[in-house]
Amino acid sequence: MIQDQFGRRLHDLRISVTDRCNFRCPYCMPAEVFGESYKFLPKDEILTFEEIARLTGIFAGLGVSKIRVTGGEPLLRTDLHILIGMLAEIDGVEDLTLTTNGYLLTQRAQELKDAGLKRITVSLDTLDNEIFRQMNGRGFDPQRVLEGIQAAADAGLSPIKINSVVQKGVNDHTLVDLARHFKGTGHIVRFIEYMDVGNRNGWKWDQVVPAQEIVRLIDAEMPLEPAESNYPGEVASRHRYLDGQGEIGVIASVTQPFCAGCTRARISTDGQLFTCLFASRGLSLRDPLRDGADDAQMTEMISNVWSNRTDRYSEERTELAAAENAPQKVEMYQIGG
Ligand code: GTP
Ligand code: 5AD
Ligand code: SF4
Ligand code: SF4
Repeated sequence: MIQDQFGRRLHDLRISVTDRCNFRCPYCMPAEVFGESYKFLPKDEILTFEEIARLTGIFAGLGVSKIRVTGGEPLLRTDLHILIGMLAEIDGVEDLTLTTNGYLLTQRAQELKDAGLKRITVSLDTLDNEIFRQMNGRGFDPQRVLEGIQAAADAGLSPIKINSVVQKGVNDHTLVDLARHFKGTGHIVRFIEYMDVGNRNGWKWDQVVPAQEIVRLIDAEMPLEPAESNYPGEVASRHRYLDGQGEIGVIASVTQPFCAGCTRARISTDGQLFTCLFASRGLSLRDPLRDGADDAQMTEMISNVWSNRTDRYSEERTELAAAENAPQKVEMYQIGG
């Protein structure tokens, strides 16, 4: 078991399998920047399934037991179920899940489940047609995402979590409807405070609806009580409906940062290791892998990075963001959140 400079263990690995996406959410991949001519990574720069599986095995050897596959939009990666099957077989991998925008899920849910995926998280910021069309930047309706969620439930992927990024003045007036829609279904909606990820979303404090306020709005219509975390370091704080019809979560990464319990490593699409969602630089694992490093050498490289880690961006946000010449941060679509 390895620990960083603050005694935090390495427990989760989040792997981005593509930097492409079929949505153009303005807070992540604004359509004006990511147009027809935008050059995404060429195939030879992206980790192959074999490379991802090998790295996952090495991380599992270092104590990682939870794997999350992300993107961009991971369902755009051809034959993703084959990768899922490879990851599911790795010793030590106990929790294997995926974050998707759900648009392609209807036709894929069963093959992912059959390959060994255990559960799934679907991003869905609002059920309001007009606002959803605007928030995905492509004019898509939420109906197809809802069908994807149903297909995942039918395939037995459980529990299903629904992630909603709350932006003041954009979708905050629709969050109670989203909670109400999923109340009693067994699916868990998690409301995420809007964060300053990447360099392009023009984030400002006044666009954040504090998690406390989100809970207050829902509780006023459907009474809630706080619930214990499922595991130490859980990102979402849980709130249960008093009538027994399920729970919601809030992810207060801006107003109540949780860096003290941060056990997550991330691998970008091109194989760089990042130890923070807000990092500026990563370390290429792909290059040494392709240069023939053996497992022991890779293990040592990763251990060194983790042991020296001091990241706590969300706790230092105000100072870091205000710093002159603040370095460019990695983008969300490169490491998947
Ligand atoms: P479960 O395993 O289902 O509890 O989910 P998770 O904790 O892995 O959460 P998920 O991957 O669904 O993350 C939800 C959102 O929380 C992400 O999309 C990010 O926006 C945010 N988030 C997750 N991990 C971190 C983190 O380490 N730091 C910050 N600042 N935000 C995070
Ligand atoms: N703040 C908070 N969450 C975000 N996500 C993407 N960008 C942001 C942001 N700026 C969410 C996505 C998805 C997850 C991977 O991260 O909606 O649910
Ligand atoms: Fe795609 Fe997710 Fe980024 Fe939206 S937030 S553009 S769905 S990767
Ligand atoms: Fe971890 Fe960085 Fe998020 Fe803090 S801001 S919880 S260190 S990923």
